[in-house]
Amino acid sequence: MPRRMVSYSADEFKIVFKGLRTAGDPEEVERFEETFARYMQSPHAVGVSSIREGLSTLIDLMQFPVGSEIIMSAYNYHVIPLLLKQKGLVPVFVDIDAETLNLDEALIESKITDQTVAVIVTHLFGTASNSEAVAQLCARRGLKMIEDAAHSCGAERNGQKIGTFGDFGLFSFGTGKPLVTLGGGMIVGRDEKILARLKEGMGASVRSSGAGYFIKCLIQIVLTNRILFAVFVYPPLLVLQLFGWDAIERLTGDKYTTADISSKSHLSPFTPMQARLGHRQLGKLDAANVQRIRYARVLQAMLRDIDGLRLFTINNDRSNIILSFNTVVEDVKRFRTYLLTRGIDTRESSMRNCAKLLESADTFPVLEAVDDRIVELPCSHLLSIKDIHYIGNIVRKYFNKDAIFPAEEPIT
Ligand SMILES: Cc1ncc(COP(=O)(O)O)c(C=O)c1O
Repeated sequence: MPRRMVSYSADEFKIVFKGLRTAGDPEEVERFEETFARYMQSPHAVGVSSIREGLSTLIDLMQFPVGSEIIMSAYNYHVIPLLLKQKGLVPVFVDIDAETLNLDEALIESKITDQTVAVIVTHLFGTASNSEAVAQLCARRGLKMIEDAAHSCGAERNGQKIGTFGDFGLFSFGTGKPLVTLGGGMIVGRDEKILARLKEGMGASVRSSGAGYFIKCLIQIVLTNRILFAVFVYPPLLVLQLFGWDAIERLTGDKYTTADISSKSHLSPFTPMQARLGHRQLGKLDAANVQRIRYARVLQAMLRDIDGLRLFTINNDRSNIILSFNTVVEDVKRFRTYLLTRGIDTRESSMRNCAKLLESADTFPVLEAVDDRIVELPCSHLLSIKDIHYIGNIVRKYFNKDAIFPAEEPIT
């Protein structure tokens, strides 16, 4: 069972294949931007080659003075604070909420100074932060609010889509995200002027080759299709993991560094092929999100009586679309190896303690208590309920508990 699963229908595969021969019509990108904005109920959406590059340009367009402070979670995708630092801005970290792993909103105010210009709210692993509270605070203190919803496309709070509470919302469509278009992403927001300048600035700049997308698609299929994974990936993965080497993470994990931000980052437009793929994927998004929530609730029912395994709250609504089913365990290596020898490939969190990375002088006790101990169990909507029972019961066995088989429940 692969750690992550991506599904391309035959139709979607054909779109990528066709992208090898024709560039497509740029109007398809505009049509997808309109569809996405409508789905999000946001006034504007602009497709970009990646969120990191989109954010980088957005920050330039906002023209914050050098030395301006931007408040964000200490537990974060490391590229974001590195990128700000490189622009002469100062990332100011806050500790996380123990139940959501997102920034603790209650701590933001104490970090605001005369230099603070913005707050970046990250909705990690599909779990919504309390965006209303942050939006109110930002409005009251005259700060910009940017929502990093890279993991949370389709998540909602009280019926409003995550990513639409602040000035800008960022959605990534890279591998392992809720909506996949072989990279790229979308920026939504209400500031028409800045978004228009973002779009203009991209012009018709360099377009990655169709061959690059095609190869990426094939790699994703081999790594995430169950049969191909079982035949080609699982045997070497198992052997290497027994020696403590997570081959998938080492080979495909994001090793982006500060140097790469200046040398490789080049914002370019979303491509027509990605727009076509995006339309198809958007049509399947809600059903996939709901299925993962149902599976996560089954796993939670199976595992909640285990001491020594920490779980996180999953609400019976769409405020957590479970991009990852996270657990916290004491002996990560032993736990992951036990599961892998029984056919279950897990993953360690790819988010990092950025306060530690950037050598912040502050302490972050809640983050430090879980950092390096988070293990993600497979919970893809492409699995069956039988698979979910298998995963849950293997974890139960690891903790010497009897097997159980709870049913799926509807979600509101
Ligand atoms: C939380 C978070 N924010 C931003 C990004 C950057 O997205 P992109 O790969 O589109 O630049 C990622 C990428 O994985 C992420 O996990």
